[in-house]
Formats: sequence, C-alpha cells, structure tokens
Amino acid sequence: MSKKSEHWDAIYGSRSSSSVSWYQRDPTVSLRLITANSSIESSVIDVGAGASLLVDRLIAIGYGDVTLLDVSAAALSEVIARLGESADRVSRVVGDVLSWRPERTYDVWHDRAVFHFLTCPEDQARYVGVAASALGTGAKLVIGVFADDGPTECSGLDVQRFHADDLERLFGDFFTMEFDERERHVTPGGVSQSFIWAVLRRKGS
Ligand SMILES: C[S@@+](CC[C@H](N)C(=O)[O-])C[C@H]1O[C@@H](n2cnc3c(N)ncnc32)[C@H](O)[C@@H]1O
Repeated sequence: MSKKSEHWDAIYGSRSSSSVSWYQRDPTVSLRLITANSSIESSVIDVGAGASLLVDRLIAIGYGDVTLLDVSAAALSEVIARLGESADRVSRVVGDVLSWRPERTYDVWHDRAVFHFLTCPEDQARYVGVAASALGTGAKLVIGVFADDGPTECSGLDVQRFHADDLERLFGDFFTMEFDERERHVTPGGVSQSFIWAVLRRKGS
C-alpha cells in the first residue's frame, strides 16, 4: 500500500463522505461542463473521483460509459455499494493517476480537486502526460482546482493554487484552453473556497 492510498483510505474510513470539505450534494459545475462538452454516448473518466455523487448523476441522465479512478479503494468501494445494481455500468481503477497507463481512450477527463495536490513540476508534467495519453484528438479535459485565492492546504496536505493562465501553460503542449470560470464552493462546515474551472481540448498529435 502506498502512502497516498493509506492517507486517503484513512480519511474515507474515518469520516462520513458527506462531512469532508470537498463534499457536494450537487456537483453542479462538473455536470454542466461535462454535459456541455459531450453527449450521453461519450466516455467519461472521473480522475480522483473519491465518493463524489457525480457518477450517480451521470448514470441518471443516461451516460453509459463511466470510469472512476482513485488511489483510495475505500472511496470507490463506498461508491459501488451506494450505486447498487447500477454499479455494473461503471468501471473502476484503483491506483495513482501518476503511474496509471490507460489501456483505452476517453472523450472526457474530469478532475475536481485532485490536480492541486501535485505541488512539484515533475508530478504536474507526468499528470499532463497521462491525461494526454488517455484522450484522443478533440477530447475534453474538465478540471476544477483551488484558485489563486483558494485554500493553501486540504485534508492535511499542501496544495498548489492556480490561475487560469497557469493551467493554460501547464497543459499547453497537449491541450488548448477553451473556457474558464471561477466557483465559490461552500464546505459542509460553511467555509467558502475559491475554485478555478477550465475546459481544455486535446490537440491533434
Ligand atoms: C479532495 S478529494 C476530491 C474527490 C472528488 N473529485 C470530489 O470532487 O468529490 C481528492 C480525491 O483524489 C484522490 N487522489 C489524490 N491523489 C490522487 C492520485 N495521485 N491519484 C488518484 N487519486 C488521487 C483522493 O483519494 C480523493 O478521493
């Protein structure tokens, strides 16, 4: 077991997933950006999906090719238990996105609150390379990370904060920035957190 999986399994094992700071009853921005950039026939991978309700919502509106990737087996087990029979419609990958070798491509890569844990340039570049290898030309990367006025740490880990220009630069070898917007997420404890969202398009290789 890696340190990362131990860290995140301990969090999901000790707290209700509706009490963690990143919990959302309605993943409104994610859903809006995914549906605006794909159809229900599209394949979607939620990277660092955790116990998010996004997959429930995607299934409910008819998406039939959804993959969840997370370093925490505990988080994904919770989702599978929650989905019941619908779990058959979801693929799971337990592992670190940085060492993952995708065996297929996807139409949409979604990441909410994962990339900002990568605080060194080498890890950020590796992440971008993995995303590029998982997406064919024209596929979309939908990402939400702490903005430049967002928190400096989350769940006991340091994070990096970003401006839209940073994302454009970091992903620029493989992706074209199409859209960005800011969001204020209110945690279950009532704290407001500033996010930056971006939609990037995979360039032709
Ligand atoms: C702050 S939570 C966000 C969860 C979910 N995206 C959401 O919005 O509810 C970060 C998630 O990323 C996962 N994670 C962190 N680092 C990861 C990595 N290197 N590879 C895969 N998953 C990772 C954690 O286990 C956790 O579930």
